[in-house]
Parts: sequence; C-alpha cells; structure tokens
Amino acid sequence: MPLTNGDIPATTQTQLAAGQDLIDPTTAVQFLENEYKHQDGLDVHTLLDSKTHGGLTYNDFLVLPGYIGFPASDVALDTPVTKRISLKTPLLSSPMDTVTEHSMAIHMALLGGLGVIHHNCSAEDQAEMVRKVKRFENGFILDPVVLSPTTTVGEAKQLKEKWGFGGFPVTENGTLRSKLIGMITTRDIQFHPDPSDPVTSVMSTDLVTAPSGTTLTEANAVLSKSKKGKLPIVDSNHNIVSLLSRSDLMKNLHYPLASKLPHSKQLICAAAIGTRPEDKQRLQILADAGLDIIVLDSSQGNSIFQIEMIKFIKDQYPGLDVIGGNVVTVAQAANLIAAGVDGLRIGMGSGSACITQEVMAVGRPQAASVFNVSSFAARFSVPCIADGGIQNVGHIVKGLALGASTVMMGGLLAGTSESPGNYFVSHEGKLVKAYRGMGSIDAMEDKKAGSGAKGTIKSDAGKARYFSEGDRLLVAQGVSGSVLDRGSVTKFVPYLLAGLQHSLQDMGMKSLKALREGVNNGDVRFELRTVSAQAEGNVHGLHSFDKKLYS
Ligand code: IMP
Repeated sequence: MPLTNGDIPATTQTQLAAGQDLIDPTTAVQFLENEYKHQDGLDVHTLLDSKTHGGLTYNDFLVLPGYIGFPASDVALDTPVTKRISLKTPLLSSPMDTVTEHSMAIHMALLGGLGVIHHNCSAEDQAEMVRKVKRFENGFILDPVVLSPTTTVGEAKQLKEKWGFGGFPVTENGTLRSKLIGMITTRDIQFHPDPSDPVTSVMSTDLVTAPSGTTLTEANAVLSKSKKGKLPIVDSNHNIVSLLSRSDLMKNLHYPLASKLPHSKQLICAAAIGTRPEDKQRLQILADAGLDIIVLDSSQGNSIFQIEMIKFIKDQYPGLDVIGGNVVTVAQAANLIAAGVDGLRIGMGSGSACITQEVMAVGRPQAASVFNVSSFAARFSVPCIADGGIQNVGHIVKGLALGASTVMMGGLLAGTSESPGNYFVSHEGKLVKAYRGMGSIDAMEDKKAGSGAKGTIKSDAGKARYFSEGDRLLVAQGVSGSVLDRGSVTKFVPYLLAGLQHSLQDMGMKSLKALREGVNNGDVRFELRTVSAQAEGNVHGLHSFDKKLYS
C-alpha cells in the first residue's frame, strides 16, 4: 500500500522539502540509482577543478565510503610501476642518501615494493649495492663478518658489541671466499679469561657446513638437525661463500609478495642517476651490475638533458625500464612520454624536507599534480609514482585514488632500521635518525662518509638533481634534520599495507584497479575538507593521548 505523508511523524515530515513525496523505503536503492544519481559528494574532476577550488593537496579532501562485501584481506594491491614491470604492493622508497641503500632496497623488494638506490656515492659503490640486491637470497648472508686466525678474543667481543651478534666464521686469511677453519659463538668468547688469546684457541672446529647451491629449505633442514646457530655454506675447496643464521631463518622464510621478474629468483632492483654526460658511464656500470629499472633523478624533469638521456637509454639499453621526472604538469609529462619513458615520477615541492616552493616559487600542490599528470599519462599507459608528501596511510590511499600506480616515500621510511645511518638520541631524549633533502646544502656538499673514495665517477647527486653545470653558488632546496625511530620496515610496511587494504574495503573497492575504475567512472565520490573538518578528523578534545599506530 502506498505511503502517504499522513503516515509519518510530524518531525520527519518537516525534513521533506516542499513538494516532495514520501517513497517506499524498500525502493531506496533503485531511487538512488535512477533519480538521485550522483548527488552525494563530488566526482574527481569536480573535486580537482582548480578554477573552483584552487590547487588541492592530500589533506584538503576525503574519499566517501562505499559498500563492504568482502574482507579487507581480499583487497589486491598489485599495480604496475613501469610499462613492463608490476609489483604486488604500491610502495617505493626514495633515492635519498638517508633512505635507500641496499638494505632498504632488499627489504622493500621482499615486502612487494621497490627501493630506489640513491646516487650520492661513487658509481662503483652504487653498483655494489645493486649487486647486493640482485645477489640477495632470502635467508643467506652474502657478506658475513669474517675473522682471521690472529683476531683476539677481545676483538671478537668488540665486534659482537658493534654488530649485535656473536657468531663469526674464522677463515685462513680472514676474508670471505677463503678456507673456513672454525666458528666462534658468543658462548666461546663470553667468559674467556684472557682477551689477548687468539680466537683459534676457543673456536669450534667440528663444523657442520653445506655446499653452495643448497636451497633454503635444505639448509633449514641441516640447521634444525645440527642444532647450531649458524650454517656456513662452502664451495668445493671449503672456502666460505655465505652464511645462514637460524634466527634470520625464522624471520625470513616467508615473503610471498617479494618483487621478482617472472621466471627470475632475483629481486627487482632500481637505482637513480642524473642526466649529465658522466651519468652515462654510471649507467653502464649499474647495468653491468644487473639493474632492472633506472630512475632519472631531476627536480624539474622537463629538460633537454633528460629527454636526450631517455632517448639514449631506450636506444642503448632496450631491456632497462626508464622512469622519468619529476613532473607536475601535463606539458612536462607529454615531453617525457614522447621521449619514451616507461614510468613517471610526480612531485615538486611536496617532500617533507623540501623548500623548493618557498625558494623557487615553482611547484604544485601534490594532489593536483598527481591527478592531472596521472590522468594524462594513463592515455599512453604510462604508470605514475606519487612522490613526496606521504605522511600516513591516508595520504597513500589518496595518491592512488587520484591515479598514481605507486607512491614513493622518503621521510616516512627514513626512521626505520633498514635506512642508512645510525640512530641517535635527540636533545628531547627521543631516538631519531638523520633525514635530509637531497637539495639541502649538507647533501649537496657532503660526499657520504666512506663512499667516493675508490670511485671514478663523482658522487654529487644533490648537485646533479638541483643544479646546472655552471652554477657558482648553491641555493638550498631542502633541509637537513631528523625523524623519529619507526622500527623495522618488516613491521612498518605491513602496517601500511594492511591500512591500505582496510581503506579500500571502506570504499568498497576490491583492488587498486577497481579503485582507479571507480574513480574514473564517478562511482567513487569525494568531499572537500574545510579547515574545521580537518580539525574534526584529527584527535580533539582529549586531555592527553598516546598515538600508537600498530601492534
Ligand atoms: P617525503 O616522502 O615527503 O619525505 O618526500 C620525499 C621526496 O622528496 C623525494 O622522493 C624527492 O622527490 C623529494 N626530495 C628529496 N630531497 C629534496 C630536496 O632537497 N628538496 C626538494 N625535494 C626533495
């Protein structure tokens, strides 16, 4: 029986606009689809219309929730990073000397993402890091600390203090790939009375080893049977080639998302270079080391230097994928796409350690950059990276919702144990790590400690990224500072990914592909956030609180 306005309480009737009739509740969904169409929230084009709203960034809007019909764990996060290479997760670490060296690159790849190795070091040092990523075998330590027969017990104790572990192989000449003569464990040295005794006097010589070529599963079985903490892997001459550690084994066995090319057991590796003539030599050295993806690292990528470099690489290294950038406008992107890039990196001035917009008055708010460039690049099937300004899971989601295929993070990952450098205690008593913009004076002037010495190609990535050849004065575009300890990426990245899955679930999107389609066809809706809406969306009204993000 049809309802009449007389059937409902007066309070509800007052909410009906004049002339509107009451509708049968069971037809609400049809009514929404057929008559109420898209009146709730904004489609992405209206949201990002800069003539009406100005240039937006991530904090300026929210995504409206959709319908949940599946568990968060079902949300698929696989996505392309270049035209030819896809990853199982959309997270990248920046090519910065306080963010990505081999340890970060290995762990980001193990977790399904990608670390881009920085170039503020000699080409040889950078290539060595690429080799470490390509040679990495899950669970095997390929560069173990090795003792010589003349090392003393006291020195071994100091090494234990320094590295945090006490199991060392002893070889004939104290190096890897030399004959294994014994193993030292913490127990051997811990209570030994005379620190000046050589390690040979306390080491164990009844060794259990495994031959090179042993698989992780086989090695695991040998370790379990021998009940030892370490398993040296030796070649046919009994030279040690790598080491397996029981504690690492427990941690390392399962990385189902690891970034690998089809039919390859090796991790995918990316590294950055500049666009100067000497970068061609660097590129050759990196390519010889087995690099898969090259990132051209310029703060303003739309230059004759980059365009020529892209054409050169596509011509000379057809097997390498090239990511160009950085760009924030469609016109910049068009030039690099025409030159042949396989991916684009988007962002200018949005980085957490960046002062480009303040100093150069050039750049663009990041949400506007990501949306405009990604929508254009999508017409040519060129995947885009939303680079910089990511402070939390929500920002990752927004970058991806606006069309980026992946996001790149610097500051958010700089505080993890896999980034280069040591932790130190700040003057407020907090555990922190250094983080600096590559355009900071520190980064531009500093040849990183330990690198550059044996290299033939200079290590000045900061200058290469931010300055031209003839510049006599360095004008900073970044700052140097510190970030809080975030623990290991092996915990932090899974937190980001789980957050991302929950977010897509809230939107009713079962994959990143579905998200992109939903945004394009207007099913995914957005809302602008006023300043007070932003305040409302953050913790407010509490006397004190503890913001613990995951456990
Ligand atoms: P974050 O994740 O917000 O810390 O931003 C990282 C990004 O900032 C990097 O991937 C670079 O694109 C950018 N960046 C790095 N160093 C500088 C700098 O000195 N000035 C401007 N941008 C920088």
